[in-house]
Amino acid sequence: MCGIIGYIGNKDACELIIAGLKSLEYRGYDSAGIAVAHSGKLEIRKAEGKIDSLIGKKLFENVAGTGGIGHTRWATHGAPSDENAHPHFDCTKTVAIVHNGIIENYTELRDELKSQKHKFISETDTECIAHLLEGKKDLFAALKELHKKLKGSFAILAISAHDNALYAIRESSPLIIGIAKDELIFASDVPAVLAHTNKVVILEDGDIVKAQDGRYEIYNAHAKNGVERKVRTIDWTYDMAQKGGYAHFMLKEIHEQGIAVRNALKSDIRAAVEFVKNATEIEVVACGTSYHAGLVFQYIMKGLTHKKVSAYIASEYPYTNCSSQGTVAIAISQSGETADTLNAVKIAKANGAKIIAVTNVIGSSLDRLADATCLLYAGPEISVVATKTFIAQLTVLYRIAFECIGKKGGLEEVANVIEDVLTKESEYKKLAQEMKDEEHFFFIGRGIAYPIAMEAALKLKEITYKHAESYAAGELKHGPLSLISDGIPVIAIAPKDETFQKTVNNLEECMARKGKGIAVSEQEIPKARLIRMPAVEAIYAPMVYIVPMQMLAYYIAVANGKDPDRPRNLAKSVTVE
Ligand code: F6R
Repeated sequence: MCGIIGYIGNKDACELIIAGLKSLEYRGYDSAGIAVAHSGKLEIRKAEGKIDSLIGKKLFENVAGTGGIGHTRWATHGAPSDENAHPHFDCTKTVAIVHNGIIENYTELRDELKSQKHKFISETDTECIAHLLEGKKDLFAALKELHKKLKGSFAILAISAHDNALYAIRESSPLIIGIAKDELIFASDVPAVLAHTNKVVILEDGDIVKAQDGRYEIYNAHAKNGVERKVRTIDWTYDMAQKGGYAHFMLKEIHEQGIAVRNALKSDIRAAVEFVKNATEIEVVACGTSYHAGLVFQYIMKGLTHKKVSAYIASEYPYTNCSSQGTVAIAISQSGETADTLNAVKIAKANGAKIIAVTNVIGSSLDRLADATCLLYAGPEISVVATKTFIAQLTVLYRIAFECIGKKGGLEEVANVIEDVLTKESEYKKLAQEMKDEEHFFFIGRGIAYPIAMEAALKLKEITYKHAESYAAGELKHGPLSLISDGIPVIAIAPKDETFQKTVNNLEECMARKGKGIAVSEQEIPKARLIRMPAVEAIYAPMVYIVPMQMLAYYIAVANGKDPDRPRNLAKSVTVE
């Protein structure tokens, strides 16, 4: 969602903030802006549009100063517009702020401020924060008071025209400080600081920070005593967050999936395995692609261990009467910041469940809430759509399931098979060219192939904007079969397991109604077009069969002139419910 960056040091703040904002573009946004302090004044430049186009319009020219803040906005309160873009400022234009999250009590704050004659320019929930800070000589003290007034989730950076300092406050929305020599970089996300440093402080809820002269001071609104935050070294590099010669991050990340499996094999899963072995019941909570990984886990875990495992869409979890002592909840989230997943985890925890986090981000909110964390080690995933983190999640989840029954090995070979599948890229590209004008797609599968049909449909719809649906193959004749008509592509995920023949039968039912049958399988299916898969032990099919589906979605998006890295309306890290 929105991206935040702040810089205080001795270099040109504007240039560095723009570079930081560009590295946060992947989070999804509709407008951008900066505020830089210089000679007792704040220079604020902001507008609707993408950063490159705003640079083209010379929006950010002639802004001097060595301290400033910047923001990419993903609209929540108020449409995308120049006025609603951040930073927002008070009536005197001496305080500017940027904000991620939602201020839940903004209506009453706004009414109160209006009655005190504050003039509002935007429709945002954010602007009231700037007015609440108006006229405050000591912003550090003012933020401590502000924390008591605000309800909701917020990561806020504030800058004043009158001192050469940056201020920050965090509650339920991620914020980090990058620590470099004589300069401090605040950001909502690690990739934005990697050009400067890999040393970071991950701020916690209630943290209020003053940064000046290369030093920072942290006060915590919830802590009784002082706070100490450790400086962590992140093993991500600047190069990892670059395209490295690929046309898009998505394509690069698809190609990194063999490595993603190998890296996820290094994850320390021992504590998680102990929890799972001792659990009376296992619940999985996650959203989107991570939920699909959770569904695969549900199938394989039930099949291997006969334990009770239930996967829930995290946003639906509050409406189920779940969790108790003895339950283990596995929360899967590449970002570790997905609000729906965090909310489900808090409910499970309150009901007495132990929490296992499967996440790519060390120090994320999910990591900190969990009793045991399995890190993915997938490196930064910049494309909005999840690919390599999905494969890494599956790797970790398979390992947990295998450890429960003492099964060894197998996944190293899966990494090689994935790389073998990736060598067939030109075939998938050719198929995508042939299918680029189709408007409707159906994906079907049974058993562990069903979540892969779901994931294939999600990938396709989110980056091509085409209509894609997924069904448990056996469900077609209970309704959706009426949608199959002349030439509609039906893609069957058909690994050679006990589901194969039934899935073939369901595909034939579609072809009998003139649907265009396509099989993702290691075996030919009469009359259907084959996307041939290498022979692989059936249990690993989800990790291998998803790869051509990611490629198909990617190349159909590109063939239609869509940017697969930044699909419309979507954000990488969904920090609101
Ligand atoms: C799809 C996609 C989303 C995420 C979902 C959960 O390509 O990326 O569906 O999987 O928003 O995100 P995380 O895993 O960060 O909790």
